[in-house]
Amino acid sequence: MACRASRNLHGAVTGGQHALATVAPVMTTSVSPVITLDRATRMFGATRALDAVSATVHPGQFVAIIGRSGAGKTTLLRCLSRATSLSAGAIRFGDTDVAGLGGRTLREHRACVGMIYQQFNLVRRLRVIDNVLIGRLARLSGWARWAALARRFDAIDVEAALRCLDHVGLLERVWQRTDTLSGGEQQRVAIAKILAQDPRVILGDEPVASLDVLNGRLVMDTLCRIARAAGLTVVATLHHVDYARAYADRIFGLRAGRIVFNGAPSELDDARLFEIFGEVPQSLPVADVDVLARTA
Ligand SMILES: Nc1ncnc2c1ncn2[C@@H]1O[C@H](COP(=O)(O)OP(=O)(O)O)[C@@H](O)[C@H]1O
Ligand SMILES: [Mg+2]
Repeated sequence: MACRASRNLHGAVTGGQHALATVAPVMTTSVSPVITLDRATRMFGATRALDAVSATVHPGQFVAIIGRSGAGKTTLLRCLSRATSLSAGAIRFGDTDVAGLGGRTLREHRACVGMIYQQFNLVRRLRVIDNVLIGRLARLSGWARWAALARRFDAIDVEAALRCLDHVGLLERVWQRTDTLSGGEQQRVAIAKILAQDPRVILGDEPVASLDVLNGRLVMDTLCRIARAAGLTVVATLHHVDYARAYADRIFGLRAGRIVFNGAPSELDDARLFEIFGEVPQSLPVADVDVLARTA
């Protein structure tokens, strides 16, 4: 399949401080594949949630998807992860048309796509370490997976999970119940969890929409640092244009299922915003923009 192992994520994230041997089978990863959308169309009854969307996402890019509610942003992410299928057109990861995947190859595809959600998608009553270990399940098979389901992970998996928590700056919270953490910290646990999954691509559906700007910035900084260090592609819907401007390499503007903007953040002027949203959306309050600006 398109996204096979060839490089070391932990080495990249940590600048090679950790020996590969100590994290071996999990933390080898490839550069993300080129993702190609070729007239991708998704119908729900008479609704064209995606309408002949054509675009390319290059390896290591951070692509922000913006648009009004109902524009098709979540549907696009769900088609990329193959949580749902296209009605027409194609999505390719490298040379692989994801429509052709099934059984084992579909499971492999889903395992190589890490998803972050607005509501974190963690088991709140479990300890932080257990939530991160759940990310490892996607990469285990056979007896190792059965053992893991009984919450008997190998020491190597636990060590990998600890390293992932270290990468997001939450090692000291490892034994804490997840619901005792703040929203921003929980989203960073969710990032550690997908890191433990050893993904080839990270998708985010409104990953910071539940957070205030300071925490949103912390989460986005963490996500970008890890993705850039590892050369991982991120495709994320972002509720606020200011986030897209501050973090994305490229922005796709969706309107009624169609891409009406595909360009650099610097090209996103008021006329383009009007085209995407049918109005010029309000900026964040000045103090919040200052917080975001300090990121760059
Ligand atoms: N499972 C579904 N069944 C029926 N209609 C859906 C389904 N998912 C999405 N839609 C419709 O597709 C369009 C795009 O939805 P969505 O991708 O969720 O938009 P966004 O994430 O931009 O708010 C909307 O009109 C929505 O009602
Ligand atoms: Mg949505």
